[in-house]
Amino acid sequence: MDKRILLIIGGGIAAYKSLFLIRVLARRGIKTRVILTKGGSEFVTALSVGGLSGEKVFTDLFDLTDEAEMGHIELSRNADLVVVAPATADLIAKAAHGIANDLATTTLQATDKRVLYVPAMNVRMWDSAPTQRNVKTLIDDGQYFLGPDEGEMACGEFGPGRMAEPDNIADKIESLLRGDTSLDGLRGPKPLAGKHALITAGPTREAIDPVRYLSNRSSGKQGYAIAAALGRLGAKVTLVSGPVAIDPPSCAELIRVESARDMLQACENALPADIFVAVAAVADWRTDSSADVKIKKDASGIPALKLVENPDILKTLSQAQSRPDLVIGFAAETNDVISHARAKLGRKGCDWIVANDVSGDVMGGDHNSMIVVTETGEDSFPRLTKADAARRLAEKIAEHFS
Ligand code: C5P
Repeated sequence: MDKRILLIIGGGIAAYKSLFLIRVLARRGIKTRVILTKGGSEFVTALSVGGLSGEKVFTDLFDLTDEAEMGHIELSRNADLVVVAPATADLIAKAAHGIANDLATTTLQATDKRVLYVPAMNVRMWDSAPTQRNVKTLIDDGQYFLGPDEGEMACGEFGPGRMAEPDNIADKIESLLRGDTSLDGLRGPKPLAGKHALITAGPTREAIDPVRYLSNRSSGKQGYAIAAALGRLGAKVTLVSGPVAIDPPSCAELIRVESARDMLQACENALPADIFVAVAAVADWRTDSSADVKIKKDASGIPALKLVENPDILKTLSQAQSRPDLVIGFAAETNDVISHARAKLGRKGCDWIVANDVSGDVMGGDHNSMIVVTETGEDSFPRLTKADAARRLAEKIAEHFS
C-alpha cells in the first residue's frame, strides 16, 4: 500500500510502542512522517523516531526553519491519514475544544484528513467525565478511535487505558486508508443529503403508577451512534428516544418520549421519512392501566399486574401509507440469531433486519457484532465499537440509495 500517514506522538509512556508502529507500517509499505510533541520527546527522542521513519521529525510550531520547510498545513496536506498515538487526555481535550497552541494541535485543527486517535492514559483519566465528554465530541465530529485496551498499566493499575498494540493500530490504519471516503467526518461527502432519517433508540418506560414502571436495560448507545453516523453522511435526522443517560448527537433533532405509545405517536408525527431505523428496545407489554396515584404497599396485599401488548412501531411504520423507502429493524437474539432475524423480516414487513447476539455484553456495552439480513442475503460485520458499527451501517444505507 503506497500511502503516507502523519503520526503525532504525544507525551505518554506508551510512546515507545509508536516506534514499533513506525516499523510495522514501513513493512506494510506505509510511510510515516512524525510530529513529536514536547511531552512525547520526554519519552522517545527525535533521533530514534527519525532513524526509524527515515524522515525529518517535526517538533515545534515556532521553529521558523520547520515552518519554512513544511508548515503545519503542509504536513497534513501531504498525508492520507493523521494518527495520534499515544493520544493523551491533554491532546484529546485540546483537539475537542479547538485549542491550537503548538505544532501538533494546530495541525489537528487545520487538517482536512481523517484523524485516528489511539488513547493511552491512566484508567481513571480515561474514565473521567471530561475525557469521556471530549472523546464523544471528537467521535460526533467524525473522528476515529482505537482502544484503549484493558490490562495492567505502567502505573500499576488495571483497566482500560493501555495503548492498542502496534499490529492492531496498523490494521486499523490500513482499513481506514482502504476505506470508502463516504465514511469521512463532517468535511466528507454527504451521500445522504436531502434524505430524512427517523431513528428510535433506548428503552421505553411503561408506567405502573406515577413512580413505578416496567422497562429494560437498553442504553441507547447503538441508536444514538446510528443517528450520529447518518447525520454525518448528510441526512436530516429525527431521533425519537426513550429515557437514556447519554448525550444526543448534535446533528439530530431529539424527541424525548417515555412509553411505547408515545414513541409510536412521535414517529408517526415525524413522517414522511426516507429511512426508518428502529433500534429502540420497545417494551413488549404495558400494564392494562396505570394508577393515577402511587399504589400503597399495604393497601390490599400484593397487586397483580395485568399486561397488555404494546403497539409494534416497526410493523406499524412498515405498513404505513407513507412508508419510508428503507425500513430497518433490529433483532436482539441470544440464539439462532440469523434464522430468528429472517423470520422477523417477514413478520415485521421491513427491508433489512440487523441481527445481533445479545447473550454477551451488547446491552449497555460499547461493542456490537451486527449481521445485516436482507431478502437476498446477509452481511456480517466484525465485532466493532458501536460507533464503528454505526458508520458501517450508515455506509450500507448510503450505498442502498446511491
Ligand atoms: O420481535 P421484536 O419485537 O424483538 O423486534 C425488534 C424490532 O422491532 C426492533 O427493531 C424494535 O425497535 C422493533 N419494535 C418496535 N415496536 C415494538 C417492539 C419492537 O418497533 N413494540
